Order: sequence, then structure tokens, then C-alpha cells
Amino acid sequence: MRNLAWINGTVSDISEAKVSLEDRGHLLGDGVYEVTRIYNSRPFYLSAHLERLHKSAVAIRIDIPVRIGEIEEIVADLIKKSDCIDGYLYIQLTRGSAQRNHLFPVGATPNLTLYVRGLDPLPALEAVKPAECITLPDERWLNCHIKTVNLLPNLLARQKAAEAGAQEAILYRSGDVVTEGTRSNVFILIDGKVRTHPESNLILSGITRRIVLDILTELAISNSEENFTRHDLQNASEVWITSTTMEVNPVAKIDGNRVKGTAPGPICYRLMEELRNKIAATCF
Ligand code: PDD
Repeated sequence: MRNLAWINGTVSDISEAKVSLEDRGHLLGDGVYEVTRIYNSRPFYLSAHLERLHKSAVAIRIDIPVRIGEIEEIVADLIKKSDCIDGYLYIQLTRGSAQRNHLFPVGATPNLTLYVRGLDPLPALEAVKPAECITLPDERWLNCHIKTVNLLPNLLARQKAAEAGAQEAILYRSGDVVTEGTRSNVFILIDGKVRTHPESNLILSGITRRIVLDILTELAISNSEENFTRHDLQNASEVWITSTTMEVNPVAKIDGNRVKGTAPGPICYRLMEELRNKIAATCF
């Protein structure tokens, strides 16, 4: 396959794709983005990702320069041209290119960038490695529902996790309330009920999170979008994290302590299976 990019209508190899030095995403982090998984040459839940891109753009007052329907066509064309079977699609929208200034530029056209990169096909569920996590204070701003390219607090926390030998940092705010991971949403099973942080300005409302909540309800497994604390996290019988690229990933250890049940536990494993079934039904 070829790793191809589409920048404001021009298609090229990623290695040759260029944006302006004065792109406001580059200079100021003034933009929003999406990541969508490609399975069997098809983007999974693309319309949900584009709906969230639209919401993020509205929240920071950027007009998407093309219609959502057109983006769908651009994506289909890019996947076809790149011959991508397993991979991911990255979409970024910035306020445009203009002389550096904190004020919104007058007359600049937003820059829309898309690219496709290949990924290894998914491992069999038995081969999915349970993650080790650490907990860290959530030092991000109060608009985490917007998927902006300003990821510095996420990067610093993720790096700390990696240096501690962990795959993800689970973040908490005052009162020890767990919000989410640096790049994932967090679920626990405690007292027979699955819980995850409610949708609010403190988390990114994950597309995978919503799919998992819907599956839980379909399976009549007790669940609620309800705050939980670090103490609950340490006392949960199952913990898992969800994201587009990680799907449903069991958590085995938190801050060096083993999660009480097995990893993956029975509910987590069922969700891993059901998500794969949904992928199969949608993309194959
Ligand atoms: N991250 N929370 C945060 C902070 C995220 O960055 C992500 C996704 C999620 C999960 O959202 P979804 O299920 O829609 O992927 C939750 C993407 C994959 C990334 O930045 O690479």
C-alpha cells in the first residue's frame, strides 16, 4: 500500500505532503482532529467521527471548508488510491495559514488535511496484551470534550507512563474522580455494575465508549455513566480502556497493583468479542 495524504485537495505521498509554515495548527495548536480505524479497506464508524469533527470545529469556531458528504467521498477515494486494507485515517482541520497572531485571521481559509497509514491487522483476541496503567492528576483544560490538537498534557502523562513501564496513564481530577486515559476512555466493573465517567467537558466522548455502552445495554449488563474514584478503580473486579486504535483493551495492573479479577475478565472479554462482531458486520 501507499501512505497517502490529501491536503486541501492535493493528493501526494505522506513523505512529500506539505503544509505552510504559518499553518495555525503548526504555530498555535489552533485546530481539531479525528482518528478513524480502517478495517478491510473500510473506515469504521466514519460518520460518527465526522459528526464529532463537526462538533469540535463548531466549538472552536472553525468552518469546515467542504461538506461532510464530500469528506466521505475524499476518504473513500484516498483509501482506494492508497490500497489500504488495515490502517487508520487521520483528519485535521486548522484555522488556516496566516501571519502569527493570537487573533483569528481575517479571510484565511481553514486547512483540511487527511492521511492514511497502514497498521498491522488486529491480533487474535487471545493475543491482546492486558495493559499496565499508572494514575496521574488530570492537568488538562476544562474543554476536554473538544478533540483539539493541543495534546501536550496528554503527551507528558503518556510519556511518564511509558517511563514507568506502563501503556497508559489514567487521569483523575479533584476528589480523586477518574476522568479518562491520555488517549482512551476508562471502564470499571464494581459491585456488579459497569461504570464510566459521564459525558461532560472533562472527557472526550469516545466513539468506542459509546459503542461499548450500547453493547452493554443490548446484552442487559448493568451499566451507568457515573463518576468513580481512584479508590473504586483499585477495588474494581474488571478494568478496561477503549479507543479507536486499542478497541477494548483489558487492564491488568494499576499503579503496580494487580486488578482483583482476571484480565480480561468475563465482561471485558465479551465486549472485545462483540466489538469484533460489530467490526465484522460493518466492514467485512
Ligand atoms: N484518541 N479520550 C481521549 C483523550 C482520546 O484521545 C481518545 C482517542 C479517546 C477515545 O476516543 P475514540 O474511542 O473515539 O477513539 C478518549 C485517539 C485514538 C488518538 O488521539 O489517537
